[in-house]
Amino acid sequence: MTLRLTVNDQRRRVETDPETPLLWVIREQLGLTGTKFGCGAGVCGACTVQLDGKPVQSCSVPVGDVGRQPVTTIEGVDGPVAEAVRRAWLELDAAECGYCQPGMIVAAIALLRRKPHCTDKDIDDALRGNICRCGIYDRIRAAVHLAAR
Ligand code: FES
Repeated sequence: MTLRLTVNDQRRRVETDPETPLLWVIREQLGLTGTKFGCGAGVCGACTVQLDGKPVQSCSVPVGDVGRQPVTTIEGVDGPVAEAVRRAWLELDAAECGYCQPGMIVAAIALLRRKPHCTDKDIDDALRGNICRCGIYDRIRAAVHLAAR
């Protein structure tokens, strides 16, 4: 079936089963491989994208449910908040192996847009669904606070 999506501000047309997870459409059909596959079961957050500005785990969203909601992947985040996050991540050398980082950054940007002055608890709550196997949660938290300044 033909589906029309708005991804990173571009109108895209895909041929797929509407039950296909959004993650596979993003990676395999649209070639946006910045969004990662981790567990495929809605547990790890590696596949996080923004759907209408809210972080979602794209492995658990059937593409047929997206409709007119804009999808933003790590390749498409921009604006002052995204730039502040990029700078903070680089300044604090926040990433370790980096695999979880696209999802973590997409979720952090969504948080900072919603709540520019966030607490440790806000950050922990917002990023609870983003698992980092390297365990660098303290650095991520510090980077979010730095980006918020
Ligand atoms: Fe989607 Fe892990 S790959 S939550």
